[in-house]
Amino acid sequence: MRRVESRLKSFSFLFFLQSITLGNALAAYSKYAGQLELLTEAVELMAEKHVSFYILPEHYDIVGTCLLKAIREVLGKEVANDEVMDAFAEGYKFLAELLIDKEKEIRESRAAQKGLLHRTHMSVPRGIC
Ligand code: HEM
Repeated sequence: MRRVESRLKSFSFLFFLQSITLGNALAAYSKYAGQLELLTEAVELMAEKHVSFYILPEHYDIVGTCLLKAIREVLGKEVANDEVMDAFAEGYKFLAELLIDKEKEIRESRAAQKGLLHRTHMSVPRGIC
């Protein structure tokens, strides 16, 4: 039971940390929205990280919903009015689509590399026998 509790705590902490980095990324997106080429490298790094944590496209909706809810709660309805929230939602959707595509590309390229390695490895003993 202790181990389960501590696992849950570390997961909550992981998602707490993630919400900070994600919030920063969203803030960076707002800042550089006009010069998106500056975000390309950042998207690459985020996507690499996500793939290493097995993040999948279906995780984006729930994280987006929670993030937007948290932004509204923290900023309050006066600051985070409907117009502001629509802009955040649009920014999140845009980044999410970029990341989902990049992550798919990384996963496919890794799978192809694995397949290639596997085939090469398999063909050596067969060739010898
Ligand atoms: C638009 C959506 C998202 C953005 C902008 C975003 C942004 C980021 C950033 C900036 C990092 C840190 C990257 C680094 O350390 O190099 C990160 C890490 C991470 N993200 Fe996301 N993220 C998004 C969606 C998600 C989703 C849907 C999940 C699923 C639960 C997720 C889970 C994680 C995890 C587990 C890490 C690693 C945390 C760690 O290293 O401790 N992210 N993300």
